[in-house]
Amino acid sequence: MTILVTGANRGIGLALVKEAKKRGHMVIQTMRKSINKAYYLDLSDLNSIEKFVDELPLEIDVLINNAGILYKDKFGILNYENFLNSFKVNTLGALFLTETLYKRNKLRKKVINITSILGSIELTNNTPSFSYSISKAALNMVTKLLSTNLKGISVISVHPGWVRTDMGGKEAPIFPEESAKGILNIAEQVEDTGTFIDYTGKLLPW
Ligand SMILES: NC(=O)c1ccc[n+]([C@@H]2O[C@H](COP(=O)([O-])OP(=O)(O)OC[C@H]3O[C@@H](n4cnc5c(N)ncnc54)[C@H](OP(=O)(O)O)[C@@H]3O)[C@@H](O)[C@H]2O)c1
Repeated sequence: MTILVTGANRGIGLALVKEAKKRGHMVIQTMRKSINKAYYLDLSDLNSIEKFVDELPLEIDVLINNAGILYKDKFGILNYENFLNSFKVNTLGALFLTETLYKRNKLRKKVINITSILGSIELTNNTPSFSYSISKAALNMVTKLLSTNLKGISVISVHPGWVRTDMGGKEAPIFPEESAKGILNIAEQVEDTGTFIDYTGKLLPW
């Protein structure tokens, strides 16, 4: 399969690239730096999304909207700019990249939106980040809406677990490699659409 991974330079994204290559998939990596054969893509910038899709020479079987940003902002000290950037990257970046690929006939089988249990309305009572939880809840809605608007393409929200990355921190119990294996199993095997699961395939409440 041809798999596109955004935010592929570190963390879960980088682990996804390594695991996908190990399994023999063709991998398209995007990042905010032009390194080796990676494509430049800044998901907070619509022009960057359109330019990337225009230049992409092939069709994608599985799109993994992995890039994400987390600001630690609690109620009482909320920061407006953090919200705007979180929505641009976590929600609109994934939505507009998917729509642009679809409109240009470059998307074939599946979209995996990497969301979070912090974006589950049912599971969340509080959060280390208002901007993160709200933008990930909105990304879950993107999954639901795309699942009925993308014809013949499966769209799933996946919580990657609490993973030891720059975002997850040193206390996180799951290594990026383990999370990436689970996400790729989902990319290869799960045919559902409009569902929210974790990296092991367990169903989660919205
Ligand atoms: N780690 C966890 O415990 C955890 C839990 C639940 C969900 N998640 C989700 O899993 C995904 C990956 O997280 P991670 O832990 O691997 O985070 P990470 O180590 O902080 O990596 C984040 C990635 O997103 C990229 N990114 C940020 N802003 C971007 C932008 N404007 N355009 C393009 N790329 C951008 C970063 O690129 P730069 O290097 O250029 O900044 C980096 O590649 C995220 O969606 C995150 O919300 C993680």
